[in-house]
Amino acid sequence: MNSVHVTFLPDSVDLEAERGESLLQAALDAGVYIDAACGGTASCGRCRVFLRSGEIECNDLSALSEAERENRMLLACQCHAVSDVVVELVESSRIADSSYGAVERPSTKKLRSTYDLEVETDDWRFDPPVDKRALKLSAPSLEDNASDLSRLFRALSREHRYDDVIADFAILPTLSQTLRTGDWNATATMADTRFEYQHLSTDDPERHSARVIRVEPGDTTARQTILVIDIGTTTIWGQLVDLTRREVLATASDYNAQISFGEDVITRILYSNKGEGLAKLQTAVVRTIDGVLDKLLLKTGLNRDDIFHVTAAGNTIMTHLVLGVPPRTIRETPYVPTVTSPPQVRARDIGLRLPAHVYFYAVPSVAGFMGGDIVAGVLAAGFYREDDVTLYVDLGTNGEIVLGNREWLTSASCSAGPAFEGGAVKCGVRAMPGAVIEFRIDPRTYRHMIVTMGQIRPIGICGVGLIDIIAELFTKGMLEPNGSFRTDLPTERIRSRSGENEYVVVDAANSGTGMDIVLTESDIVNVLRAKAAIYAGIMTLLESVSLEASDLSRIIVSGGLGNFLELEKCIQVGLFPDLPRERFSYVGNGSLIGARLVSMSREMLGNAEKIANRITNIELIENRMFMDHYVSAKFIPHTDTSRFPSVRRWSSQPASELEIRG
Ligand code: FES
Repeated sequence: MNSVHVTFLPDSVDLEAERGESLLQAALDAGVYIDAACGGTASCGRCRVFLRSGEIECNDLSALSEAERENRMLLACQCHAVSDVVVELVESSRIADSSYGAVERPSTKKLRSTYDLEVETDDWRFDPPVDKRALKLSAPSLEDNASDLSRLFRALSREHRYDDVIADFAILPTLSQTLRTGDWNATATMADTRFEYQHLSTDDPERHSARVIRVEPGDTTARQTILVIDIGTTTIWGQLVDLTRREVLATASDYNAQISFGEDVITRILYSNKGEGLAKLQTAVVRTIDGVLDKLLLKTGLNRDDIFHVTAAGNTIMTHLVLGVPPRTIRETPYVPTVTSPPQVRARDIGLRLPAHVYFYAVPSVAGFMGGDIVAGVLAAGFYREDDVTLYVDLGTNGEIVLGNREWLTSASCSAGPAFEGGAVKCGVRAMPGAVIEFRIDPRTYRHMIVTMGQIRPIGICGVGLIDIIAELFTKGMLEPNGSFRTDLPTERIRSRSGENEYVVVDAANSGTGMDIVLTESDIVNVLRAKAAIYAGIMTLLESVSLEASDLSRIIVSGGLGNFLELEKCIQVGLFPDLPRERFSYVGNGSLIGARLVSMSREMLGNAEKIANRITNIELIENRMFMDHYVSAKFIPHTDTSRFPSVRRWSSQPASELEIRG
């Protein structure tokens, strides 16, 4: 059983909590408010509860006296249930009464994640476009003195139906020795030529047109490892996949070292135009991929010689930069890239420290601002094969949106700015340990609780935390729709510094930086701009095909933020349309999943190319409709509140506890 039943007294609020989840997190999920000032790091000692029944496991309880511990007092942030438990909030830790919390309990906690590789495996055929083939060649004789290469081709045709084969020149110098060393038993690594000639691609998955990229003596098919990469503007993710066992061996990530040259793609395009700029950017991204590969090899005990192919998905600018192709024209009207379907290239030729036979393939892009990462994401999400209309949203520095079904696909990219990645925000950080990710406040006492990623001392606020805090402050009536704080409330947390109002999320005594962690009105403006760009992009795309938000069957969210996003909060700030919550789901790192699918199925490789060709991209720059939506969406949740009927604001008036506006 992976869940346990947790009951919080005195209000008897209960929920099914994930096993291992802290009692503080369970309280947050249940809408029970516990005083928690340090983000769950055991340092403030305020999140006290009594254990009334059941079994728990705890970490650091040193903030409690021995007598308190003997009295079965716990710190909620440091303990998790190992059986069904009942705990009672200590009066001093309680924020208001839990009936308030019960009213506010979210209908859905996080975005549902439905697209794991395991879930998808029955929907496509495992047929990798690069794989190894064991061969038994006939030994030459006076009667049959064909060349070694002809002999290899004959065996490939006879044993594996490869009738259309070319050979890498690189296999020739060692071919004679290799075949004889293996006593005419050999393994050929075959790469589908669609990696090289996408424009000539065939729809016939049975047609094995391939290039021999390596020949080894004996049968080595038990070792087939490929590398898949998601080249993000901020973060690069990698996975090693064992094609023989069809499983992911390890996953690792690192920040894209290009960050030193600029946070967003436009800055990097500008940098690439300067002197050695392009070379420096290319070296930086390749160095990061190499570093991620080092981590993967360390985790698996494999070495670089075990890798025989690389598939990468990234936005169009990242794809250009990793290949060393100038992206300059992408930011000039009419925003045309040099290439959308680059042929595969030797990994070594772009600087990766991999053997000569390893090729690097980039998933094709759609347009200058609609890259292979989105094509891979659409592939992973699967709606390109369905009748219902689905909206796919990739949240990042750029918000990329795809709308459509099996008949048609259309897309748009909107620059959200760096706020969702923690940029352009005074105390903003990326989603990293110590980042504030959850926030709740009691509007009667103005006491709040926060949770940080990894439950360590708070160091700043990440994109998810920003959405959470703004939604919470707005719905609790502390923030006006235009993003300005109410200054008439009896709380010292809203204050003015240097002529600007701000909210103290964490005071210096409890922060990991030794300084107050604050949210300023300027920060809020930047977040509202980011969410307005995404919302306006969605509405513009819908209008361009004469659809309304209510016509959407599903909304699939992708990107690093999605893991921690609270759907309810996203709708409360006006990031996503106010639709039934069950229509939303989360695809995880769609780019990485899609790259993996391409590596494991010729059919999926072909589908990725078809998706890239089928998507009609709409440029939002200078689009009047987009600008109108954008201006209207820069409020919380929107200037037209009738679009968000479920968003409620707290009212202290006694007649009704919750006032519905809109
Ligand atoms: S000690 Fe638990 S939140 Fe501070």
